[in-house]
Amino acid sequence: DWTMAAYKDKAIEAIREQVGDGKVICGLSGGVDSSVAAMLIHEAIGEQLTCILVDHGLMRMNEANEVVAMFREHYNIPLVHVDAADMFIDALEGEADPETKRKTIGKLFIDVFEAEAKKIGGAGFLAQGTLYPDVIESVSFTGGPSVTIKSHHNVGGLPERMNMQLVEPLRELFKDEVRLLGKELGLPESFIGRHPFPGPGLAIRCPGGITRDKLKILQKADAIYLDEIRKAGLYDTIWQAFAVLLPVQTVGVMGDGRTYEFVCALRAVTSVDGMTADFYPFDMAFLGRAATRIINEVHGINRVVYDVTSKPPGTIEWE
Ligand code: XMP
Repeated sequence: DWTMAAYKDKAIEAIREQVGDGKVICGLSGGVDSSVAAMLIHEAIGEQLTCILVDHGLMRMNEANEVVAMFREHYNIPLVHVDAADMFIDALEGEADPETKRKTIGKLFIDVFEAEAKKIGGAGFLAQGTLYPDVIESVSFTGGPSVTIKSHHNVGGLPERMNMQLVEPLRELFKDEVRLLGKELGLPESFIGRHPFPGPGLAIRCPGGITRDKLKILQKADAIYLDEIRKAGLYDTIWQAFAVLLPVQTVGVMGDGRTYEFVCALRAVTSVDGMTADFYPFDMAFLGRAATRIINEVHGINRVVYDVTSKPPGTIEWE
């Protein structure tokens, strides 16, 4: 008889066995997965765990601070906050290919983890919140030939030269199961219910090359969109929602002037595990409200469109 409580105990045993008295570092992304992984490992080995929040400058508005506050203040779990924004953004600048962007980000994450592991006197283990769907989708697409859809930033193992072993206690779980486990571990409902956020962050919501300016524009539009979703009481009904900044400028008119600014696409889906998804059928009044606010409040956007693609044939993220 399979329960989450039993799964938790088994997973804790497995972590203790794998790690022994070694040190573990765990990357926190602000999402549910890495937070649940960190809580689980903390319960298993306590002080042997150090969490690392790599702020790659690709997070949503205020997200890094919220995560730091929760872990340090609420749970008292040691957390190192690494400001690596310049490093990531400089490396990505001008790069438009989605897979190259993902791989660049994955490599930089490893570089930062490696440096942080050294700072704490050597850690033999790197923990990640990799889920079962991440593993499948990075490897092949069900039913078809073996094709990589997207290289998930945290799948694919570690470079040979790295003297670290991966700890991935969620590798067998789907998202809904991770949420149950999070509840079992005592994470607050508000955190467990957070929409998924991908490790590569806003870089994959900014098709084409990213720039600091574009990221700022996207953060603002995204914050307004989510604010409207919360106000409409829809946050928990929707599985994931976010804004995408398109690398397309269009002509508009504001007051009595011409504008030539970017297009923002809004995305919202319902899903159970992220493997398949339906676009969320907002009513037009909601979309109109969100669009008006974004165009009025965000300098740099003069047109908003809504993405009505389900998965398949689309994916949830645009890259
Ligand atoms: P796609 O776009 O593949 O996304 O339909 C499915 C779910 O996975 C999230 N996602 C990621 N999560 N690292 C992550 O931790 C990644 O590299 C990554 N890529 C996509 C995506 O946000 C959605 O919830």
